[in-house]
Amino acid sequence: MTRLFGLTLAACTVAVAAFAGSHANPALKGAVDARNAQMSMIGYHTGLLGGMAKGDVPYDAATATAAAENLAAAAAMNRAVLWIEGTEQGAVEGSRAKPEIWSDAAGFEEKAMMLEAATAAMVTAAGTDLDALRAAMGDVGASCGACHKAYRGPRN
Ligand code: HEC
Repeated sequence: MTRLFGLTLAACTVAVAAFAGSHANPALKGAVDARNAQMSMIGYHTGLLGGMAKGDVPYDAATATAAAENLAAAAAMNRAVLWIEGTEQGAVEGSRAKPEIWSDAAGFEEKAMMLEAATAAMVTAAGTDLDALRAAMGDVGASCGACHKAYRGPRN
């Protein structure tokens, strides 16, 4: 009986180790893919607004508002199911998340809140006029850079 228990325990330990060491854990890879999709959405809409701010694309209040609303919605997604521990760069394929996201969770949250505030302000500014959009663009861009500098690792 003792021997049987020992064998069962050994088998469990191997199974747990295989799970923890797996780079192909579908739940963890799913979180990395989903947050990169979120960042792509953020990048697309920021690009639309940035194009208007620079004058590359003609300003249009309705289009700017639509882009800003999607941007703010993407920025406000609940982070709890996207930034899961164990998904840092090196642990899961495709991740560029620095371990500091978890070791300095308060700092990461602060940067995420900067983005939320800047994009919420953009919703009002984008529909006002081009000058207001341009003025709001600074805080949006600054929040991207601040977070990437501290919490995004080098290209894979
Ligand atoms: C709170 C932190 C934070 C903020 C704010 C932030 N990002 Fe990111 N972003 C990240 C991290 C971390 C990654 C890498 C995620 C990974 O690979 O798991 C990333 C990845 C990206 C990517 C790559 C997506 C891909 O498909 O590989 C793009 C594009 C991007 N961010 C754009 C932006 C833009 C534009 C802004 C500002 C409007 C922004 N981000 C704001 C943390 C942030």
